[in-house]
Amino acid sequence: MHNKKLLIGTNTKMYKNIADTISYISQLSTLTDDIRDKLTLFVIPSFTTLDRINQHRQQYNMLLGAQNMNWEQQGQYTGEVSPLMLKEVGVDIVEIGHSERRHILHETNDEVSKKVKSALENDFTALLCIGEQAYEKELGLTEEILSIQIKTALANIPKNKLTKLWIAYEPVWAIGVNGKPATAEYVEYCHQFIRDLLVTLYGNIGNDIPLLYGGSVNSQNAPEFIIKENIDGLFVGRSAWNAEKFNELIRICLPLI
Ligand code: PGA
Repeated sequence: MHNKKLLIGTNTKMYKNIADTISYISQLSTLTDDIRDKLTLFVIPSFTTLDRINQHRQQYNMLLGAQNMNWEQQGQYTGEVSPLMLKEVGVDIVEIGHSERRHILHETNDEVSKKVKSALENDFTALLCIGEQAYEKELGLTEEILSIQIKTALANIPKNKLTKLWIAYEPVWAIGVNGKPATAEYVEYCHQFIRDLLVTLYGNIGNDIPLLYGGSVNSQNAPEFIIKENIDGLFVGRSAWNAEKFNELIRICLPLI
């Protein structure tokens, strides 16, 4: 798949309070103003910031995401946030199944599946995160793991809903301060595998689902990833959390699209 626009964004995880997020988003918005038509830019901050950001929405020309969502519209789910609540605060994208949610908070494939279905039914863009752990890679199980994660997450989703699905391939061993970035060749191999699987499952629609890479992306390695045929976008953590540095990273990638 070839994007005419650079698809790039960040999840700020459990960092940045309301004031920090507002200042980050407004700085990023100003810095990228002149390249806005060449970008699909998204930021996924903490829940507590969403309402405030939404109040100033017109100023910030970017998509806004939530880091998680419960699958029910409402109910007896203490501590959860529902699709209706996210709609109320202007969310465009719901991130589902990030490795930290799967492996620290023990989210299962079944829960991921219910969340993806609910996000698409509620007309959000569902950003499904998948990826193998280090031991699974060492055992040569990467393809099996990706296949299980994709097939379970997309079970029972009608084809016509897939136009609002994005998939981020984020190998667990590549994420975060202890992560080791994957090589561009390895990511391209995995993305090709994911692409072929999506086409087998859904025909041509599978060609149009954007595949992002995430895991220790920085301004040095970003160009190697973004030039690859099957890497449609980048999902950046730490290297995006300073607006000036993220703007630099974006501008390095832009001419390579
Ligand atoms: P990182 O995070 O870029 O800091 O490794 C990536 C992610 O968790 O999506």
